[in-house]
Amino acid sequence: MKQYLKLDEWSIIEESFDAIHQEISESVFSIGNGYIGQRANFEEKYSGPSLQGSYMAGVYYPDKTRVGWWKNGYPDYFAKVLNSTNWIGIDVHVNGSPLDLAACSVTEFRRELNMKEGYLARTAVVKMADGKQLKIASTRFVSIARHEIGAIRYAITPLNFSAPIRLTPYLDGDVKNKDSNYEEKFWNEVSKEVGLCTANLTLKTKKLDFHITSVMTYDIVKNGQKLEFTPSTSEKEKYVANDITIAAAPNDEIVLYKYVANVTSRNYGLGQLVEAATKSLNKATTAGFDVLLSEQAAAWADKWKESDIIIEGDVAAQQAIRFNIFQLNQTYSGEDDRLNIGPKGFTGEKYGGSTYWDTEAYCVPFYLSTADSSIARNLLIYRYKHLEKAKENARKLGFSKGALYPMVTMNGEECHNEWEITFEEIHRNGAIAYAIYNYVNYTGDKSYLGQYGLEVLAEISRFWEERVNYAPLKDKYVMLGVTGPNEYENNVNNNWYTNRIAMWTLEYTLEALDYLETNEPHRYEELLDKLKLTTEETAKWKDIITKMYYPEDKELGIFLQQDGFLDKEIIQVKDLKPGNLPINQNWSWDRILRSCFIKQGDVIQGLYFLGDRYDLETKRRNFDFYEPLTVHESSLSPCLHSILACELGYQEKAYEMYLRTSRLDLDNYNNDTEDGCHTTSMAGTWMSVVHGFGGLRVQNDELILKPFIPGRWTSFSFKVMFRGARLKVHVSEQSVTVFNETEIPAAIRIHNRDYSVGSLGMIQVESESVNTL
Ligand code: BGC
Repeated sequence: MKQYLKLDEWSIIEESFDAIHQEISESVFSIGNGYIGQRANFEEKYSGPSLQGSYMAGVYYPDKTRVGWWKNGYPDYFAKVLNSTNWIGIDVHVNGSPLDLAACSVTEFRRELNMKEGYLARTAVVKMADGKQLKIASTRFVSIARHEIGAIRYAITPLNFSAPIRLTPYLDGDVKNKDSNYEEKFWNEVSKEVGLCTANLTLKTKKLDFHITSVMTYDIVKNGQKLEFTPSTSEKEKYVANDITIAAAPNDEIVLYKYVANVTSRNYGLGQLVEAATKSLNKATTAGFDVLLSEQAAAWADKWKESDIIIEGDVAAQQAIRFNIFQLNQTYSGEDDRLNIGPKGFTGEKYGGSTYWDTEAYCVPFYLSTADSSIARNLLIYRYKHLEKAKENARKLGFSKGALYPMVTMNGEECHNEWEITFEEIHRNGAIAYAIYNYVNYTGDKSYLGQYGLEVLAEISRFWEERVNYAPLKDKYVMLGVTGPNEYENNVNNNWYTNRIAMWTLEYTLEALDYLETNEPHRYEELLDKLKLTTEETAKWKDIITKMYYPEDKELGIFLQQDGFLDKEIIQVKDLKPGNLPINQNWSWDRILRSCFIKQGDVIQGLYFLGDRYDLETKRRNFDFYEPLTVHESSLSPCLHSILACELGYQEKAYEMYLRTSRLDLDNYNNDTEDGCHTTSMAGTWMSVVHGFGGLRVQNDELILKPFIPGRWTSFSFKVMFRGARLKVHVSEQSVTVFNETEIPAAIRIHNRDYSVGSLGMIQVESESVNTL
């Protein structure tokens, strides 16, 4: 794989301009603050291939479903995160000619995503068609400290000419989603105003009535002196701008500071949008660019304090893990329980920016360990708030009770429309239940069960109860017609993972009921009443648990991914001739479905989630059988395999899988980064370091570590928050050291021995090889 980006511990750096890479870089160098996401588009006009993208969290459009053949039960729409007002725009004309990097020769270029301080910087030296040379230097960020604010410092310097330079800072709402189903534009203009050095624009969505308002202002400084000027104004539909023409001579530096506040009707009443945005903007401009930037650095320093991973001896790995952590923190900040994490975050439009099971299965562990527990809790509450919709969804599909959470959603309604996924990939319900367990197990916050968790668990259990059926010939319950996590098999019977996670949900729900009956009897009675949960129902759950059917092959000692899996021709991926991979781009769907090749961990997903219920030899037999058949064509796949390989002592495999997940976007491994980054799988990368190489688990209220050092690393360290304490775990070849950065003591088990780390204390334990565990 060609490494295009420069290696650096704290920054992502591109050192030359290549139009072929522009869309990929626009994804990789994206900035965000949990509320606003912005691809790394240029501020000035760019006529080359580009995906212009400015996104506001939670603002979406129900784009009418497009399918070839309609099936009853399909949702009417696919929710899409909306490409919103382009707030970064600053057009530049030099002596009347537009500055456009696609039409110039770019002699120097550098783009840097500074992850330590949270900004994007670009410098370029260009030669225009008429020979004029100039330098551009821009820095921009969306503020973590002030969610509504974006700020840009845009500097331009003529190098070999004197000529008037026209700058046009603007707001442009005439934007389109690339993935619009019917080539429609989704915004209507509501109002606009353009004044001297200020303008605002309010748009509303054609459906659902989301409003967004952007307000901009700017200053211009020439050679360090603030300029006094009178701009001309211009406007057209969904567009407002100012024009300023400045006389410039060689080496004059003209800097435009553009400040924008973007607000939405999610947070303000319709009549208050312009006022609220203006107020926010005024405070930001009073602070000024440098103060805003130093606030940004301070806010990121706080984030890094909680979530940094340091890898010594391997800059590529160091850069990659920070990139993954940075993108996750840019995407979800956790204060708003109406928001979630789309598979591409804010870096592109693919997957609609909607919520998938990725959140529960992959992202929750990251936020649990690297932020206050309220952040992961909000991800859970998001699903709690969607419970009624999940019940409606189950009714819509013909179930008399229970809840089926959607595969893809913005507001709790299903919006995915491929039958084999929408109707059959129901294991997602299990991941949502599992996240409740994960949260309670990790944080020890059992009050969550009585407050919210049990209702979700009980309704999911009811769904499973109705979804299984009794098969008299087997005298077992079975689950027919499902798709497991491996989407390269559809409509299979008895997918081991789905059966297992369904039964696990029933078991955990019964456990939660017992807990509440003993510890919160009053709430227990209230919930029984609210849920109208009967003893017949719980007795039925117990019966299903005892009589559930799990496909397995006793001779091989493995769980069968589904009934009949061994009837397939079993060929290993390594034996495929080059040119077959990726199979999803080279084979017909029919051939994929009949083959034994696995898109992403399926049995492996179950062995990871329910790791404490299976012994190492069971895991080994299943891993040894399934991993060689796995093509890892979902970005969610390598990380799980890396974690399990660590547990099994397959260090080389673990590292190989880690490399594949961690630099997926930086090295455009799957050749699709132009669509956006694989944000949810980045949480998987974090898991492969902390759960994989660190061996972190939580069992019986204890934090467990079984670390080893992979690959070329000489040491690594990571931070975890656990029950109020923040621990820094440092792993070297000789020892494992845990520093408690807080005054809250923590119990910890390292290589099978118990320790406690007191207030601000430290313990050091000699390292052991993972193979000896
Ligand atoms: C994976 C799903 C995942 C989705 C979004 C698909 O390719 O197979 O498991 O939920 O991508 O990341």
